Amino acid sequence: MLRKVAVLAVIASSLALAKPNVVVLATGGTIAGSGVSSTQYEGYQAAVTGVDKLLQAVPELKNIANLSGEQVAQVASQDISTDIWLKLAKRVNSLLKQDNVDGVVITHGTNTMEETAYFLNLVVKSKKPVVMVGAMRPGTAISADGPMNLYDAVLTAGSKEAVGKGVMIVLNDRIIAARDVQKTDSITIDTFKAPIFGYLGQIVDGKVVFFKNPLNKHTYESEFDISTITKLPRVDINYGYAHDSGTVIDALVASGAKGIVHAGAGTASMSEFVLPSVEKATKKGVAIVRTPRTSLGMINHNMEVADDKYGTIAGGTLSTPKARVLLMLGLTKSNNPKYLQELFFKY
Ligand code: SIN
Repeated sequence: MLRKVAVLAVIASSLALAKPNVVVLATGGTIAGSGVSSTQYEGYQAAVTGVDKLLQAVPELKNIANLSGEQVAQVASQDISTDIWLKLAKRVNSLLKQDNVDGVVITHGTNTMEETAYFLNLVVKSKKPVVMVGAMRPGTAISADGPMNLYDAVLTAGSKEAVGKGVMIVLNDRIIAARDVQKTDSITIDTFKAPIFGYLGQIVDGKVVFFKNPLNKHTYESEFDISTITKLPRVDINYGYAHDSGTVIDALVASGAKGIVHAGAGTASMSEFVLPSVEKATKKGVAIVRTPRTSLGMINHNMEVADDKYGTIAGGTLSTPKARVLLMLGLTKSNNPKYLQELFFKY
């Protein structure tokens, strides 16, 4: 009897001590950056520190997870390509299929992190947590934000509460859904916000606290499957302004774009100078999505522009770069405007 109690006690304590298995996939960015002085936080070199050094720099990580690291890319995030998206997404999917992996953290530059996050949010086939993390200051800065951000990201990726919440970005103590997040400031460390939708949660003193669930479909609920895709269709962006012209749209279509996101003034308007080029493009089967140049706001179908007449698609509440991500994935299935419009309601 005593022996049985002792065995049960050992099992109970080892369960309590069991740490989650988290894999860190590194891609570069400022979190792996290095400056010439401890006060430099602009003009430093991004993407120089490898994943092993990144993990060694935060010894506290050993207390919260069993970690392993892989270098998937080593670039500043403006150089993240759609080929890197596909490589990263396939690696995440294969890792999360393994029983001995509980979550994945991806270190990434902040410049295009929201696009990579939204892409993964649409193509990862798992409920397990996927957390993207970066830093606004290089590791050499006096008050580098990378180490604490990385700690918080690993904590979130290993937490049971994060299961089923889709891809998340963790920075500056905040947890933000990939669908909702926007980088709002080019320099400051409180740059990532979710101005329309609000934060998913927060990390305080090693505790991961969620406030809500994401509303739009994501990850395990998504209809997109990239397992056999090796190239994504080309989608470009056109910017609207006073007395703009259709020249850019004409050039994009002539050079082979399969889709264009038009960041229009106000509620994604299209000027009388642009509309003839838009109509020519959609008649050729090029998909055109309308988003707001303001970066925030809701764009409704057949409001401001007669979408059904011109064959265009309203971008809903997606930002311009994220609308581009969804359009690329949509075009892997169909260029039918009705099908594509539905996607902008769902995701
Ligand atoms: C980058 O996006 O790779 C550089 C800037 C950053 O990480 O903040």
